[in-house]
Amino acid sequence: MRQKDILRHDQTLFRDPEVFNPTFVPEHLHHRDAHVRELAFLVRPALQGGSPRNAILRGPPGTGKTTTAHHIFALIAEETGQVLPAYVNCRQNQSSAAVYRCIFEEIYGYAPPATGRHLDDIRAAIVARLKEKNACLLVCLDDANYLVAAGTYNLLLYQLLRLYEGWDGVRCAGVFAVTSDLAINLYAEADRPVQSVFHPTEVFFSPYMKTEIREILADRVRQGLYPGVMPAPLLDRIAGIAADEQDIRVGLDLIGMAVMQAEADGRRRVDAGDVAAAARAVIAPLLRTRIAGLSPGERTLLCRIAEQSRERADMTSGAIFEATREYLPIGKSTYHEHLNRLVKTGIVDLVPGQGRGREIRLRYDPDTVAGICRLPD
Ligand SMILES: Nc1ncnc2c1ncn2[C@@H]1O[C@H](COP(=O)(O)OP(=O)(O)OP(=O)(O)O)[C@@H](O)[C@H]1O
Ligand SMILES: [Mg+2]
Repeated sequence: MRQKDILRHDQTLFRDPEVFNPTFVPEHLHHRDAHVRELAFLVRPALQGGSPRNAILRGPPGTGKTTTAHHIFALIAEETGQVLPAYVNCRQNQSSAAVYRCIFEEIYGYAPPATGRHLDDIRAAIVARLKEKNACLLVCLDDANYLVAAGTYNLLLYQLLRLYEGWDGVRCAGVFAVTSDLAINLYAEADRPVQSVFHPTEVFFSPYMKTEIREILADRVRQGLYPGVMPAPLLDRIAGIAADEQDIRVGLDLIGMAVMQAEADGRRRVDAGDVAAAARAVIAPLLRTRIAGLSPGERTLLCRIAEQSRERADMTSGAIFEATREYLPIGKSTYHEHLNRLVKTGIVDLVPGQGRGREIRLRYDPDTVAGICRLPD
């Protein structure tokens, strides 16, 4: 146990609060063995004197892309001196200068001087390091879609992948480009000269299933909380909410908040009320963002659905259509378009009803949804 934890030992339910921090890198990576194997396979040529192959890591938010990249880079750093891995967070580093400074810091272990060094000097220093170590460079451009938006993606890829051209004896670098924006195709975003040297293998990260989320969260609970603080059925409930949201971070936030609530009340164990309160606090902002993206008509329909659900009224699709028409003069096809959009955003489900037709189920508390729908933009 660390010194600061000893000081707080009798007051806290957290053994290590860092474990619930968004930037925490877990020791054990669950359910991503196939991804690690595939990425390791791409790095292997570099261990035999060649160059690493390139990859695009693609998948929705919270599917473990960053964690997997850190994991493979840690393995590389541990196992071999032949590849120098450099992780770049492109949300925070979008200009060429910022990216090169980051690569410098990764491979030297300290930042380049803040001023007085030209970009070419930093690049020359990076190459000098590669020569000194007789190693090749492997760069992870995490959230590379930010480079596309900043207009630096193509030049950076071009320079990195052709690093060997300007300097004798430097091997071709490899790039792992990561994105959670599924609308962006990082290969198509590369222009022709870049595509001629960028032949990435796409590695897709699909959302975790509930059982996988449960296991990852249970591991975090073991590491971060004292025994007995989080009852297993409540952890199940949290895993279910995170799986519904398709976002493991929701689960980590829920655990952190529920435990803080129990701690504030002077209890040694989380109860169902803590989880319910945490769920309201974590889910409301997510819902607000999703509802803000709806058109006025879709929002009116959602409000009507929430009110009908609150009144425990008839929730069949036909009944909601009639109830909505009092407020929104739309025909059946527009109604179904609106409804499908609500299903797509994950706010309602359409399930088979008792007779013919389908029933609409609101996934969230109707009061919360109606309240958000009525908020001004
Ligand atoms: N396989 C895993 N094993 C252990 N922890 C994981 C795993 N996958 C994700 N996590 C945890 O879930 C959180 C989100 O993971 P991560 O940041 O890797 O997702 P991401 O795919 O990079 O998301 P984004 O696209 O939003 O950047 C982190 O706290 C991470 O530690
Ligand atoms: Mg990430």
